[in-house]
Amino acid sequence: MARTKIKDILRSEEHGYPVTVKGWVRSFRNNQFIALNDGSSLNNLQIVIDLNTNEEIVKNITNGASLSINGTVVTSQGKGQKVEVKADTVEILGTCDGEKFPLQLKNRPSLEYLREIAHLRFRTNTFGAVFRVRHSLAFAIHQFFNDRGFVYLHTPIVTASDAEGAGEMFRVTTLPFDNPPRNEDGSINFTEDFFGRATNLTVSGQLEGELGATAFGEVYTFGPTFRAENSNTARHLAEFWMIEPEVAFNDLNDNADLAEEFIRYVIKYALEHNREDLEFLAQRLIDEEKQKPQNERSEMGLIEKLEFVINNKFERVTYTEAIDILLNSPAYKKKKFQYDVSWGIDMQSEHERYLVEKHFKKPVVVTDYPKDIKAFYMRQNDDGKTVAAMDILAPGIGEIVGGSQREERLDKLEQRMNEMHIPTEEMYWYLDTRRFGTVPHAGFGLGFERLVLFVTGMTNIRDVIPFPRTPKNAEF
Ligand code: 4AD
Ligand code: MG
Repeated sequence: MARTKIKDILRSEEHGYPVTVKGWVRSFRNNQFIALNDGSSLNNLQIVIDLNTNEEIVKNITNGASLSINGTVVTSQGKGQKVEVKADTVEILGTCDGEKFPLQLKNRPSLEYLREIAHLRFRTNTFGAVFRVRHSLAFAIHQFFNDRGFVYLHTPIVTASDAEGAGEMFRVTTLPFDNPPRNEDGSINFTEDFFGRATNLTVSGQLEGELGATAFGEVYTFGPTFRAENSNTARHLAEFWMIEPEVAFNDLNDNADLAEEFIRYVIKYALEHNREDLEFLAQRLIDEEKQKPQNERSEMGLIEKLEFVINNKFERVTYTEAIDILLNSPAYKKKKFQYDVSWGIDMQSEHERYLVEKHFKKPVVVTDYPKDIKAFYMRQNDDGKTVAAMDILAPGIGEIVGGSQREERLDKLEQRMNEMHIPTEEMYWYLDTRRFGTVPHAGFGLGFERLVLFVTGMTNIRDVIPFPRTPKNAEF
């Protein structure tokens, strides 16, 4: 008989029909009641086995063991579930030594411990919920753009350009490490490398996205992105996923509108499709926050927070206004900030979090940053000091989106690239978009894991990507 997913059994209104279920044991009580989970749902299915079941089989029904069960769906006598399965046959697919199995689910294991056994953590409620929500968000992202006629453009993973100009790239090479070919001046000769030049893992698909936008009008990328920044924080990964829409004819305002609509859409989708998982994560957050002093706990529950974001417009302020708010804040006057504040600084996360969590108490779009702290491709404003940039800051996270209107004027772009020592000849392909029918255009990048953090209420970015890559950590 074909396997039925536990989610579908728990949802069904009918009883008395035969099923085959397969999954892993979460608990076994009184030699009779198995809590079985197959990953399709947060909730376990209760399986009731016959008290005369073969002793050898009963002995092997341990936490973590995998089973295949044929039985009948019946009304449950117990509390907590409407239906259960009365087993006719129980087959042990794989045994699991309860002594050695690192996941003893009786006491809730800490997230730190689970990070150490990351290869098994998908089998816990928390990570089951997180990664089902992550999946839904990814699906919703494609749906959002598809519904609006965007073309999904696959930008390269291996590239010769540094899109952000920040020099945080991982090199890709097939040259021997011990004795690479060298130029006369001693530098490594990359013309002998696989691609005949130095190449890296992409830090952003934006520049290629712009090539697509200036032909298709509206494109987006959604792929892995790599940054060799040595930030060992709860917000940074060396490998993360980024969503980057790029739209011809859009200005900065349109760009912010698109980002807001997009974020609301995907959150709404998760609330509609992952209610149980989100309610579980909301409760997890409440339990976790009980450890914190009262004044550090969130004012809103997770679901409330998500509903608030869906129903309220984000605040919009310029960078200059944001700096004024910080300078006039009680936190600044009482010297509560670790880093100083003045016009021109790259705001630290303590500043960003002050703005969203203490001042506005909602997501904030900060626009028009000083040009000296932003990338070469951003459109220069008439004041000569700022560029048409935007960052979206989210409560509990800080920066979740970075974007801008792009510099579409060839002369201004070339001038800025020269000032910033970005090689204009090598990037002829990028400049060609400005040479051949240039148009105003804008786009942004949303860090997918930061979105997943926000939606799940998790606090460490390592807990929202299946296989985290951080400094000194790249297991399996
Ligand atoms: O602000 P960033 O660097 O912007 C860009 O890369 C632009 N090319 C995007 C664009 O306009 N198309 O990165 C965008 C977002 C950040 O706001 C953040 O959410 C996320 O990517 N991000 C990271 N997420 C996890 N780990 C890291 N190391 C990240 N660096 C950036
Ligand atoms: Mg940024």
